Amino acid sequence: MSPDKKPTSLRPPVRKAVIPVAGFGTRFLPATKATPKEMFPLVDKPLTQYVVEEAVACGIEEIVFVTGQAKRAIEDHFDRNIELEYLLDNKGKKRELEQVMELAEKADFVYVRQKEMLGLGHAILQARHLIGDEPFLVMTPDDVFSDNSGSNGRPAAQTLIDAYEKVGTPIIGVQEVPKDRVHLYGIVSGEPVGDGLLKMTGIIEKPDQKDAPTNLAQCGRYLFVPEIFEHFAQAKPGKSGEIHITEGIKGLISNQTVHAAMIPNLYHDAGSKLGYLQAIVEFALARDDLGEEFETYLRKRLKNA
Ligand code: G1P
Repeated sequence: MSPDKKPTSLRPPVRKAVIPVAGFGTRFLPATKATPKEMFPLVDKPLTQYVVEEAVACGIEEIVFVTGQAKRAIEDHFDRNIELEYLLDNKGKKRELEQVMELAEKADFVYVRQKEMLGLGHAILQARHLIGDEPFLVMTPDDVFSDNSGSNGRPAAQTLIDAYEKVGTPIIGVQEVPKDRVHLYGIVSGEPVGDGLLKMTGIIEKPDQKDAPTNLAQCGRYLFVPEIFEHFAQAKPGKSGEIHITEGIKGLISNQTVHAAMIPNLYHDAGSKLGYLQAIVEFALARDDLGEEFETYLRKRLKNA
């Protein structure tokens, strides 16, 4: 029986997420020379924490980080820090103590190293033995989402899980991007089948504007089935020597039905400098403790510009 024909009750639940964090972050040098870009803060929480919290809010229990050199800060962030806890406790800083302690309890964290920087597809392949025979999410932390009226407070990855529960196929999260930015993304094509879903017919990594079939970009949220690993294992590296995530998805499309789902949340490409700044503004404006004052500052600043 093909996976999409299985009754909902027979489908295994989505319990695991892979978060690749091994990249060099060259777009943010020199800041990334010794600090992982995934630890850059949006206000006071690192990018990686947002994505972990999104995963947990979607019911994910186990998180596999694919790490590389100079990424120890990420492991430390999701671990206990007894000295800091002791200090905060002594100073009576209860709220801070709770915030620091709960990080290690959010999920089961597992780490695997990508020994060579051979691309996102290769990074995900490193988690193969930890995923087993289950569907799983892949979430890239420099793609962040904030709420807007369309998302109704639901985390971005929930859209993928809901779609999977309905149709039982791999699901690629997409957003519309301006036509002059399609060269920065994997661009998908497909037939609309209702409920914000497309049955995918193709995908192309970072096409020139003139070659792009649509302006629907994959944006860092994927729900895969274990068959994807074999496609990554067999994929030929591109010109840059990397195995792109797109290659695995192409392999899947040639063998089974794959859907793309429109993510209704507001998307920020925090892997680019402008997107990162926009994400900071959005997250700061949404904060109860800062939003109003920050907005007053921005309005004043723009008036005087
Ligand atoms: C990667 C993927 C690309 C995707 C993008 C945004 O590119 O290769 O298909 O659209 O992430 O999530 P990168 O931004 O790492 O160059």
